[in-house]
Amino acid sequence: MLKLNSHPSGRHFLQIPGPTNVPDAVLRAIDQPTIDHRGPEFAALGRKVLAEIRQVFQTRQPVVIYPSSGTGAWEAALANALTPGDAVLMVETGHFATLWKKMAVNLGLKPEFIAGDWRSGVDPAQISARLAEDRDHAIKAVCVVHNETSTGVTSNIPAVRLAIDQAIHPALLLVDTISSLGSLDYRHDEWGVDVTVGGSQKGLMLPPGLGFNAVSDKALAAAKASGFPRSYWRWDEIIEANKGGSWPYTPSTNLLYGLSAALDQLLAEGLPNVFARHRRYGEATRAAVRAWGLEILCRDPAEYSDALTAVVLPEGHDADALRSLILEKFNMSLGTGLAKLKGRVFRIGHLGDFNDLTLIGTLAGVEMGLALAGVPHRAGGVKAAMDSLCAAGSHLPEQRKAA
Ligand SMILES: Cc1ncc(COP(=O)(O)O)c(C=O)c1O
Repeated sequence: MLKLNSHPSGRHFLQIPGPTNVPDAVLRAIDQPTIDHRGPEFAALGRKVLAEIRQVFQTRQPVVIYPSSGTGAWEAALANALTPGDAVLMVETGHFATLWKKMAVNLGLKPEFIAGDWRSGVDPAQISARLAEDRDHAIKAVCVVHNETSTGVTSNIPAVRLAIDQAIHPALLLVDTISSLGSLDYRHDEWGVDVTVGGSQKGLMLPPGLGFNAVSDKALAAAKASGFPRSYWRWDEIIEANKGGSWPYTPSTNLLYGLSAALDQLLAEGLPNVFARHRRYGEATRAAVRAWGLEILCRDPAEYSDALTAVVLPEGHDADALRSLILEKFNMSLGTGLAKLKGRVFRIGHLGDFNDLTLIGTLAGVEMGLALAGVPHRAGGVKAAMDSLCAAGSHLPEQRKAA
C-alpha cells in the first residue's frame, strides 16, 4: 500500500504553494458522518458557507461552489461567460496562465496571448493598447492570473480594470485567484471583476476538491447569452438551488464541513490580519533569500507575491536535486519549478495555516539543504528572516496577546 506521510517522527512540512497544510480544526470538521444533502441540517450548512464565502471574495454577488479542482472552476468561468469562437485576451505570466490559455483553445475560444518572460506580472498598458485597437469589440474577455503560482509574481488587478475602462471597452474581466484567495488582499466588487476563479487547497486551507466562481451581474447577463453547450457548470441552475442551501447535484458534503470550519478560522482572525500575516511572511522569506545571496525570480519588488517565493539557483545547480535532498533529510516538500522553470527554481510556499515558527522551520530546512547540497550561498538567511519578523511585530490576535 502507498505509504503517505511515512516519516519517523514529527510532522511533515508541506511547504509547496498549495495544496497547503490543513488545520486540525478543519480536518476534524471533515471527519464527521456524511449527512443527507437534501435534508434541513445540510441546508443550514449550505446557506452558512454560501453567505460567508462572499466575505472572502469581498463581494455581495453570488459565489458558485463546485465539487471540482481549480481547473474545473476555470472551465466554468469560460463556459458560462463566453461563446465558442469568442476572442479573449490573456497574458503569459507563467505556467498557469499558459494552461488557462490552452484550455481556451480546447474549448474553441480564440485566445490572443500577450507574451511574457515568466518573471513579471500583467502590464496594464499592453491591455489598454490592445483593447483600444479593437474598435469593433471582438475581444469578449480579458483573463489574467492574480497570483502566478509558478513564478511568485502578483499582478495589479485594479490597474487591469482601469486599463479596460480607459480603453472604453466592454470586455469582461476574468481573474484567477486560485493561489491568492484568503492570503492576499482581493476585492471582487471594488475592483470591478466579472468572474473570480478560486480553489480550496491554498489560502482557504482545505484539501483540494472545491472550485469557486464569484460572478458579477454583467457576467450573469453574459451567461444568459452564452452559446456554450454546458450543463454541470451552469451558474443559473446552481444559484437557483443555492437559494434553499442545496445544489442541483450531490455536493462535496464533507469538504463543505471543512469549508465552514476554515471560514470560521479566517473570519475570526479577520481578513486584514490574514493579509498582514502573509505580508510579514513574504518579506521575511525575501530577507532570507537576499541574505543567502540567491535571486528571487520575480523581477519587480512591487509584484512580489506574499503567498510564495520562487528562488533561482545558480547556473549548474539543479533545484530538483536540492528539493529531493531536503525531502529526504528534513521531511519537507518544497515546490518544483514548472515547465520551462524545471530545475532552475524551487518555490517556498508561505501561505495558509502558517505561523512565524513554521516559516523559520521552513527556512532553516532550506538553509541546511543549501549547505548539504553544496549550493553556493551565504549563511544567515534564517537570522535575516527572524530579524524581519521581529521588526514587523507580532501578528498574534489581540485576545491571545492579552491572555
Ligand atoms: C494560479 C493557479 N491556477 C490554476 C491552478 C489549477 O488548479 P487545480 O490544480 O486545482 O486544478 C493552480 C494550481 O496550482 C494555480 O496555482
